[in-house]
Amino acid sequence: MKKRVSIFVSGSGSNAEVLYKYFQNNEQIEVISIISNRKEAGIFHRARNWTIPVIYCSNADFDNGHILRILEEENIDLIVLAGFLKKIPSELVNKYDKKILNIHPALLPKYGGKGMYGIHVHTAVKENHETESGITIHLVDNEFDSGKIVFQKSCPLLQTDTTEDIAHKIQTLEHQYYPVVVKEYITHYII
Ligand code: GRF
Repeated sequence: MKKRVSIFVSGSGSNAEVLYKYFQNNEQIEVISIISNRKEAGIFHRARNWTIPVIYCSNADFDNGHILRILEEENIDLIVLAGFLKKIPSELVNKYDKKILNIHPALLPKYGGKGMYGIHVHTAVKENHETESGITIHLVDNEFDSGKIVFQKSCPLLQTDTTEDIAHKIQTLEHQYYPVVVKEYITHYII
């Protein structure tokens, strides 16, 4: 039986797109659904011609058990967060123990925690004159950005790099590695 993945997205969904396309026609892994907590998220437009649904769920739906029912009905084996900005409720974290992955656009534990997302991360990296940044793929627990690290990849930064340059370097790494790491994780750890 194929392993079944649901992707949670709050924004543009470029990582969700790379994941969706990577696993199309894969014999072991299938993306079943995308769930978004923002009606106006770019993912709805991006995925308009895809063969899987993008389901809108309000923040309340995440906290009142509605999401859990959807995931159980869909027999989801792994949840992949791809730019999902709401904290995952502990009920879901407990139920999907070691089965929720997130990607963070910096080298955790640096530049993590509440409020550290998107351009805020790259701005802080730039302000601190870091000579490198990178990506972290980690398990999700009950705190922001604190779960066990599964994978990290760094890239050098130049002092002349703008925040946008940093964002571009990081996004390139994300698109290159997230699908591969998700595949490896499922293959080795999801029974
Ligand atoms: C990525 O930078 C990811 O690391 C972070 O949110 C961003 C999502 O970008 N968690 P996109 O919506 O996939 O383009």
